Amino acid sequence: MNKLVQIFEQTFHAQPEVIASAPGRLEILGNHTDYNEGFVLSCAVDQRTTALMRKTSGNMAVIYDERADSYARIDLNDLALPITPKWAGYPAGVVSELKKRNFAVGGFEAVISSTVPLSAGMSSSAAFETAVLFALQKLYGLDIPPADSARIGQGVENNFLGLKTGLLDQFSSIFGVENAFILSDFRSVEVLKSVTMQPGASILVVNSMEKHNLVDSEYNTRRAACESAAAKLAERHDGVKTLRDVSMELLDSEKNILTDEEFRRAKHVVGECTRVMQAVDLLAQNNVAGFGQLWWESHESSRINFENSTPALDKLIEISRTLPGALGARLSGGGFGGISIHLVQDRYLEEYQKQISALYKEYCRITPETIICHPGAGASAQQLK
Ligand code: GLA
Repeated sequence: MNKLVQIFEQTFHAQPEVIASAPGRLEILGNHTDYNEGFVLSCAVDQRTTALMRKTSGNMAVIYDERADSYARIDLNDLALPITPKWAGYPAGVVSELKKRNFAVGGFEAVISSTVPLSAGMSSSAAFETAVLFALQKLYGLDIPPADSARIGQGVENNFLGLKTGLLDQFSSIFGVENAFILSDFRSVEVLKSVTMQPGASILVVNSMEKHNLVDSEYNTRRAACESAAAKLAERHDGVKTLRDVSMELLDSEKNILTDEEFRRAKHVVGECTRVMQAVDLLAQNNVAGFGQLWWESHESSRINFENSTPALDKLIEISRTLPGALGARLSGGGFGGISIHLVQDRYLEEYQKQISALYKEYCRITPETIICHPGAGASAQQLK
């Protein structure tokens, strides 16, 4: 933090007034369930984005992104796209969403710094939006309930960047709990409970190093298929609004009214909601092996039903099945590249890391980035002076 304050002072010849920090997240189970009003088990991580800010008069935002070593000057009275450089679209989007909700924000100067891997599936964008939003809230004294803060971040993705993502990323970044997973319900939009895992196993993130770019990906078409499947089922079944309301039995019995694609997309979502609830039960019984097994099942469903995996991610999961200490592995987040998460017994962790790196490199000549992740605390902001 001291280094960042120094950078702020050197950049703006003034002291920052507030500091905010927001973590990346891992989706543990519950893939593409959030926008279907389903359940997700997720956690915030130790990797965080930090924003230092001070108010300025006028209507300009001047932001220095330390990681990109890049500046942005944004006219807050003219937030029409395109905003350059590209990353400045996030803070611009936050201001735009705040204005839409009649929150008054004026000019500011900011330094942003982040340790959340970019475009990998750990929600670097949600961490960015949330850190900026929390800093602005503190700076301008805006009283926004946390769930609405998550909606503002989601609004940036949906309205500003054109990506129809759900609430999971911002929600996990805001509501994350140290050393625990959170079970969220995206119908009532609340955290139902935090869930702990007994010691002895750790989460290893293995990045396939294929950048996933959700805007260019098929995220929106996956969402559309889920919604059209739900609409067809809703026509014939009272009480069905979204895939959250559909059981596997109901889905199987109505297979013939859905296209093959709708059926498989829905099967993934319905299966994921079930696996989330099974996971919570298994963790309560300290059955970490059973919990990990669900990760492999989830990945298999991504591969076959949701088709949001890639050959590289499949390779990482295939390798995981051959390694000592492996309890489970799956893609995590939107998919179409990015990271996989591996549940590994602690005593094998180092060896596992070495072996998966070597075997993946043999396969595609790229050394994957590996990160041991701990569930971390959610976003926060503080006044500095
Ligand atoms: C991305 C989206 C989330 C969620 C996940 C898949 O991370 O931003 O809203 O849909 O994909 O579970």
